[in-house]
Amino acid sequence: MEKFIIEHSGALKGRVRISGSKNSVLPIIAATLLTDEVCIMHDVPKLTDVLIMQNIIEDLGAKTIWNEEKLSIEVGDIKKTQVAYELCSKMRASFLVAGPILARCGEVKISLPGGCAIGSRPVDLHLKGLVALGAEISQEHGYIHARAKKLEGANIYLDFPSVGATENIMMAATLAEGQTIIQNAAVEPEIVDLSNFLSSMGAQIRGSGTDTIKITGVNRLRGTSHNIIPDRIEAGTFMCAAAVTGGDVFLENVVIDHLKPAIAKLREMGIEINEGFDDGIHIKGSLDRLPIDIKTLPYPGFPTDMQAQFLSLLAVTPGTNIVTETVFENRFMHVPELIRMGADIKIDSRSAVIEGVAKLAGTQVRASDLRAGAALVIAALAAAGTTEIHDIYHIDRGYYRFDEKLRALGAIIHRKTS
Ligand code: UD1
Repeated sequence: MEKFIIEHSGALKGRVRISGSKNSVLPIIAATLLTDEVCIMHDVPKLTDVLIMQNIIEDLGAKTIWNEEKLSIEVGDIKKTQVAYELCSKMRASFLVAGPILARCGEVKISLPGGCAIGSRPVDLHLKGLVALGAEISQEHGYIHARAKKLEGANIYLDFPSVGATENIMMAATLAEGQTIIQNAAVEPEIVDLSNFLSSMGAQIRGSGTDTIKITGVNRLRGTSHNIIPDRIEAGTFMCAAAVTGGDVFLENVVIDHLKPAIAKLREMGIEINEGFDDGIHIKGSLDRLPIDIKTLPYPGFPTDMQAQFLSLLAVTPGTNIVTETVFENRFMHVPELIRMGADIKIDSRSAVIEGVAKLAGTQVRASDLRAGAALVIAALAAAGTTEIHDIYHIDRGYYRFDEKLRALGAIIHRKTS
């Protein structure tokens, strides 16, 4: 088991390159199951979650080759339709292979997903979509078994704009007969990236990035080459790290449009942000910040995946700050750990009321999930003394070379085996 040892770090300074988006690359790897030809992805972060997805498709018969951050995948014939429990249980996004396997093989058996402990996270909307496309679904011994002789296009209304359900249905519909219309679809940038990937394979998709996506099924998809979009959550995390330390940091390889909610909130706090650079953004933190309120929402609202990191920043922002989490029901698990570091936070149902304190104090804390772990790193950078963060395997699921990148900006952070 590894842990981070973090000392109070002064103002972070320098440039950092943001990696390809984890949440884009996971569905895109799943989408390679839709063709027997070679697909090449560039700027793929070699994260634990990406390696799990790689293992899942290798277990189904795919050949994969890494060359630095380039990942080539040749699925060829899918050798089996049952996805190994040991792999599915490690990551919720494993469920994204259900749509592609069903579309190509007419059958899939997959266990209900595991992953971050941030709520019940059902898959009812994924299944509703697959049923509408003609799948018969049964559930036995923790496994979902979906069968369809032929998938047929359908009109599907999602009760909530679920990112994963939109992706799963979109992938299955590319090989269905006729037209599928997904209404109240998710509009996240990762949906658009997946749609661009599928289109480059020969899929016919219109409207991704809006709440109505139209897919006309084709008989087969071909291999392709694709650049993964930059990770907006990693970028937002580094923006918080710069802000909390009063730093001066330039982020390379970002899509500024994707960062609008984070930029707006940081500016509201009085942090200077210059976005006039090619593919880059400059953050000049300030230790003299104003309190704010945040409410998480589906894109283009404030991302739930940035909530924990901002909450750490607000913990040391004087005044009363309020954070309301509307996307997941159990996503304040970082709060008890921040309180142990001296934060003044009260949780009332889905809201956290944060009275900013002058300083946090380092201690031993535990990462309970990916973004909660990142939030503890941000708190630790500003805390007095030494913080030990345990269970950092959660952080490694979603941040590529996090400690290395932070060290290059002047953070005092080390990785140790417990
Ligand atoms: C994706 C992201 C995750 C992010 C989340 C919301 C990936 C790999 N993960 O997760 O980092 O936090 O979007 O932006 O891209 N829901 C249902 N039924 C379903 C599906 C979802 O009720 O069938 C609910 C969930 O419980 C949750 C909400 O919808 O309350 C949002 O979930 P969803 O958008 O599906 O998130 P994920 O795709 O799991």
